Amino acid sequence: MEHQENVWDLEYGERGTKWSRRRLAFPVSFEGKVVLEAGFGDGKTLSSIIEKRPANVVAFDFSAVALERCREAFRDLKNVSFVKADAESLPFEAGSFDVVVAYYILDNMLVEGRRKAVGEFFRVLRPGGFVLFEDFAVGDFREDLGKRVGMPEAHTLLKKKGLLCHYFSVEEVRELLSDFSNVEAGLKERKPVRNRPELVRRLVSAVALK
Ligand SMILES: C[S@@+](CC[C@H](N)C(=O)[O-])C[C@H]1O[C@@H](n2cnc3c(N)ncnc32)[C@H](O)[C@@H]1O
Repeated sequence: MEHQENVWDLEYGERGTKWSRRRLAFPVSFEGKVVLEAGFGDGKTLSSIIEKRPANVVAFDFSAVALERCREAFRDLKNVSFVKADAESLPFEAGSFDVVVAYYILDNMLVEGRRKAVGEFFRVLRPGGFVLFEDFAVGDFREDLGKRVGMPEAHTLLKKKGLLCHYFSVEEVRELLSDFSNVEAGLKERKPVRNRPELVRRLVSAVALK
């Protein structure tokens, strides 16, 4: 299986940057906090994070192409820094962050990788810090669209260009975050295509306390 870092570099190289105007609301305040964003990609979630007045944001991704683009796009922001790193082994000290935001990164990993990454999020959070999670859920319309070339694990598609995409259940997310306390996890559903009500986007989101 192709290393996901190379797959993402190729993906960003081919498709360019997709900006979204959608502004996200988060379940905890970022005001005055030190926030880590895991897998910043083309900066969609990051642009919502910085509007919530954090003291500092450190954003990491293992894609060199994503890094170069976001460094350029966000160059005027003095309180945001970008780091090339793998979620499974983070170059940060234990207890350095108040909040970790992990949106649409863990779906790119197999189960072992997801566990290691969540272990790293736990390590780098200070006691009393929060992890925020959002990702695709089992039953999302894309899970069944047939663009897969393989399925290395249950609910994990291997797509044409080698991209992994895992679909989570709420129970699985609770289990993944079981070292944290006060885990709140739930399903969200929306219908992204106006004339196609049968296409349902399903997401799992969660917030948990260290
Ligand atoms: C779908 S994008 C998500 C972008 C962003 N989190 C957002 O919500 O807008 C997934 C990103 O995670 C990165 N990624 C996947 N696995 C990673 C890993 N193990 N370590 C670091 N980055 C990773 C990919 O390079 C890609 O840029």
